[in-house]
Amino acid sequence: MEDQPTFFDFAAEVGLTKHIGGVEATEALVELCHMDKVKYVLDVGCGAGVTPCFIAKRYGCRVVGVDVSERMVERSKERAKREDVADRVEFRVADAQDLPFEDALFDAVFTESVTAFPEDKQKAVNEYVRVTKSGGYVGLNESVWRKVPPPPEVVAWASQDLGATVQPLTSDAWTALLENAGLREIAVRTYEVNTKDEARGILRRYGLAGMLRVTWRMLSLYARSPAYRSFVRQTRERGILPENLEEYYGYGLFVGQK
Ligand SMILES: C[S@@+](CC[C@H](N)C(=O)[O-])C[C@H]1O[C@@H](n2cnc3c(N)ncnc32)[C@H](O)[C@@H]1O
Repeated sequence: MEDQPTFFDFAAEVGLTKHIGGVEATEALVELCHMDKVKYVLDVGCGAGVTPCFIAKRYGCRVVGVDVSERMVERSKERAKREDVADRVEFRVADAQDLPFEDALFDAVFTESVTAFPEDKQKAVNEYVRVTKSGGYVGLNESVWRKVPPPPEVVAWASQDLGATVQPLTSDAWTALLENAGLREIAVRTYEVNTKDEARGILRRYGLAGMLRVTWRMLSLYARSPAYRSFVRQTRERGILPENLEEYYGYGLFVGQK
C-alpha cells in the first residue's frame, strides 16, 4: 500500500468495492445494453472484479476489466480464478480517460460508480465511445443529484475524500456527456438510494463466503495498519447519514448506442 493510503487503497486491500443499486442495477444496465447481442465487454473501473466475473458467467461472453489501481486488478484476477472464469475474463491497469485499446473493439462498455471520479468526465465518456463498435452500447451507472441545489451536509457526505474527487452530476448533465460523445437512443432511469437495501445488496453481491473473506481481511488489516485504524475511526465519525440524503441523492442508469 501507498505511504498515505486512500479509501480505494483500503478497498482494494480488503477486496470490497460497490456501486449503488447492487446486482439488480447491474442486471438492469446489461439489459439496457442488449446483452443477448453482446460478445465482448469492457468494464471500466472494475474494482474488485465482481461485475466482469458475473457477466462472463451469466451471459457467457468475454470480458475485459480495467481499473486505475494495480491492487484492484490483482484482486480481480484472484476472483476470476476463484470463480473459474479466468479463461473468459482478463484485467489490466488503465485510466478511464485514456483507454489502452484500439477503436471499435467492444460490443458494450460499462461503468458502475466510476465516471463520477475522473477529473475530465467528457474525456472518459469519449474514450468509452471510441472503443465501442458501431451499433454497440455504452452504459453508465452513476450517482446523481435528484434535486438541486443539494444542501451543504449532503454535498459534504457525497464528496467525502474517496481518494479521488467524487462529483455526482444531475441526470441532465450525465445525459449531455453521452450526447456530446455522439451516442444516440439514450435511455435514462433514475432511482432513489435506499440505504438499507444497499447493505443487503452488498451481501447479495459478495455472498456469505465472500463477506467472510472480506471481514477476515478487514480484521487483519485493522490489526497491522495504524493508518487503517485511523481511517475506520474517521469513517465512523462522519458515517452518520444526512436525514434528507434520499431526497437529493440517488443514482441513474444512462445507456446510449453508438
Ligand atoms: C466505487 S468503486 C466501483 C468499482 C466497481 N465498478 C464496482 O461496482 O464494484 C470505483 C472504482 O473506480 C476506480 N477508478 C477511479 N477512478 C478511475 C479512473 N480514472 N480510471 C479507472 N478506474 C478508476 C477505483 O479504483 C475503484 O476501483
